[in-house]
Amino acid sequence: MSDKDMKFETVEDARAVPVTRGQRFKRHCARRWWIYLIAGLVIALAAVLGIIFGAIPAIAQSSVNDSKLQVDGIAITSPSNTQFTLSMNSTVHAHTPVSASFSPQTFEMFLPPSDGQAIVPFMSLSIGSLKVADTFTINVSDVATNIMNEEAYLAFSEQVLRNPTLNLGVRSNPQVNVGAIKFHVDYQKTVELKGLNGLSGIKLYNPTILDTPMEDGTNMVTDGVIPNPSSFTLQVGDLTVDMALKSINMDLGYSVVKDLTLHPGDNKVKIYNHVKPELIKNLLFISSLKGKNTDILLTANSTVFNGEHITWLEKPLHDAPPVVAVLNPE
Ligand SMILES: *[C@@H]1O[C@H](CO)[C@@H](O)[C@H](O)[C@H]1NC(C)=O
Ligand SMILES: *[C@@H]1O[C@H](CO)[C@@H](O)[C@H](O)[C@H]1NC(C)=O
Ligand SMILES: *[C@@H]1O[C@H](CO)[C@@H](O)[C@H](O)[C@H]1NC(C)=O
Repeated sequence: MSDKDMKFETVEDARAVPVTRGQRFKRHCARRWWIYLIAGLVIALAAVLGIIFGAIPAIAQSSVNDSKLQVDGIAITSPSNTQFTLSMNSTVHAHTPVSASFSPQTFEMFLPPSDGQAIVPFMSLSIGSLKVADTFTINVSDVATNIMNEEAYLAFSEQVLRNPTLNLGVRSNPQVNVGAIKFHVDYQKTVELKGLNGLSGIKLYNPTILDTPMEDGTNMVTDGVIPNPSSFTLQVGDLTVDMALKSINMDLGYSVVKDLTLHPGDNKVKIYNHVKPELIKNLLFISSLKGKNTDILLTANSTVFNGEHITWLEKPLHDAPPVVAVLNPE
């Protein structure tokens, strides 16, 4: 203790105020204020650094984990066996305690693997930077997309075409920017999507036999409605199906839907039928076309786009059980 301090203490003591423990402590603090200030600053700095290097990324990661991804629509067009064109609208719901943005990132998509199996992405989608908000959209349109793994993509396409619902896995490792602080978070979500449910519920109307067949051999045209309960838009191309009368399991011939694109909802199409020549003039067949609720079995034979058989569309459609279409439904 310096002389000055001594003096100070002496002066204070001279006031003859009784000195309690508390007062003694207060005085001690008053004299050592600078030590506490420095200690306080160091603690505050440590806390800030802790937030920057620990808490903020942890908070961001947990916001990412808690966020919800909703896919509003997916369009797969210009199909080929190696690539296609992808458009996708999606909405992200997140709670963001701080204002943040994502640098450009690449999403990989896959079917959730069964236990112990590795993730096999079948396509990727690169998107630009995103400003994070409680609700924000990620919409992309007309992105040329390569099929990264044929087998995995075929499995995905099969689920899209045949199932009422399917799970799509999405992952990325985006850089998050909070002010000047930058770090990466792991993003992985499984989204439930509606599928096309095997094109069930096809309806056929207005069968019209052509007195003079068309050049391609079409001898009957029909109007059709193909329901698509999913949010997928799928460009299929020319779809050829074999037709059979269900009641007596009789082959009728085949039908073609030209340049088919299945949009969400009911799809009205023109169907070009190639009815077997021996049937087209058969009175029993002709009168059966007027019957109500006649079940016709349809088995997909081929899908051709741009002169190419598209395996990932053709195979799942062809291998599926026949679709029951109803002629003249009531
Ligand atoms: C995305 O939304 C836009 C605007 O509503 C719409 O025109 C487009 O068809 C949607 N795309 C898909 C793939 O659903
Ligand atoms: C994104 O897509 C949704 C539909 O899914 C649409 O409502 C919205 O307008 C689109 N936003 C932009 C910026 O295109
Ligand atoms: C249907 O597929 C078979 C081979 O599986 C083929 O021989 C036949 O020509 C096809 N029919 C049509 C109309 O494409």
